[in-house]
Amino acid sequence: MALDAADLGPATSLTCRECGESYELGPRYACEQCFGPLEIAYDFTGVTRASIEAGPRNIWRYRGLLPVPSNVQDTPNTEPGFTRLVRADHLAESLGMQRLWVKDDSGNPTHSFKDRVVAVALAAARELGFKVLACPSTGNLANAVAAAAARAGIRSAVFVPSDLEAQKIITTAVYGGTFVTVRGNYDDVNRLASEIAGEQEDWAFVNVNVRPYYAEGSKTLGYEIAEQLGWRLPDQIVVPVASGSQLTKIDKAFQELIRLGLVEDRPYKVFGAQATGCSPVAAAFKNGHDVVRPVKPDTIAKSLAIGNPADGPYVLDVVRRTGGAVEDVTDAEVVEGIRLLAGTEGIFAETAGGVTVGCLRKLVASGALDPEAETVIINSGDGLKTLDAVAPVARPSAEIAPTLEDFRASGLA
Ligand SMILES: Cc1ncc(COP(=O)(O)O)c(C=O)c1O
Repeated sequence: MALDAADLGPATSLTCRECGESYELGPRYACEQCFGPLEIAYDFTGVTRASIEAGPRNIWRYRGLLPVPSNVQDTPNTEPGFTRLVRADHLAESLGMQRLWVKDDSGNPTHSFKDRVVAVALAAARELGFKVLACPSTGNLANAVAAAAARAGIRSAVFVPSDLEAQKIITTAVYGGTFVTVRGNYDDVNRLASEIAGEQEDWAFVNVNVRPYYAEGSKTLGYEIAEQLGWRLPDQIVVPVASGSQLTKIDKAFQELIRLGLVEDRPYKVFGAQATGCSPVAAAFKNGHDVVRPVKPDTIAKSLAIGNPADGPYVLDVVRRTGGAVEDVTDAEVVEGIRLLAGTEGIFAETAGGVTVGCLRKLVASGALDPEAETVIINSGDGLKTLDAVAPVARPSAEIAPTLEDFRASGLA
């Protein structure tokens, strides 16, 4: 692969998150010494609030903080990001809170935060010489990879559990790439993808062999929240957890902003949200364990159904370091969370958002989360992708004939 010519912006090397061993930039993802995960190290120069604010209104405004070429915005990509930060006063009131915001990432091109990670992975994968964009996915990543590859004019190859939501199957298949449903759960699909990645040299599995680059895309959620709050960190943030990558990278973004002097250095707390039917990180947190014991997922929150989360231990580190917590909610509470957000703020979240709102409610009730402190929650995906979850409870008020008599008789006036 033509690495010598690769331009990966401010990225300088890959570092092992376990033992600190350093490697040249390239298509690596595991440490040769200890098998720990690798992440990107940087030399940031010339990044200021003004340089960021002068950039485009998408994630490439933060290109100086990402492992992507400096001219990244000139190459076709889906250009996600700069989604709205919604002041959620009605939801806050219903939970007895004061200052609450929803970072609504359902507004991305394929309606989830996964467009961010894929945009960065695509840009890096091209630089690293890969020809095919691939992934194992719980659904949203499949949408994002298939769309980004279509836009870039390259082949995609995505692998998902065969019991995925119908909407996520359709919204992936429509882009026309190679799309394989696998009879197994996400952890089976992920293992298969790792095996295929070992054989297919020019396939970039965004969350496997180019994972260090991909994971950095989630940092942009943290940058945007700070910028949209007027270059300020919130006091508390609640993030849904599947592999745990999004949560750990939002924390990385906050740390970078502090280090670069772009925001004031003050404490913030990070909270994780899981569905009880797949809550290995919440279980480890509640039991005081450092090891995350894998589980077999059984929940309607399929996008979060990763039983063996790669970043689970790092989520525990972040949450414990910042004084947060990891909570979990039942499927019934997930549906209540979806309805609460929709009914108070007009935002229709997918099940992951229902998990986040449900956990927010529980964290406030238990006193773990301060109702008076400024709080941001992430809505990472769109409810139109998980309609079945709410279909039984989201019904019309009445069905009537087109007559005034029938309307009057319905008692709805
Ligand atoms: C909508 C949605 N939210 C949150 C997540 C969790 O992301 P992570 O694996 O980075 O924890 C996912 C993962 O697929 C997702 O699809």
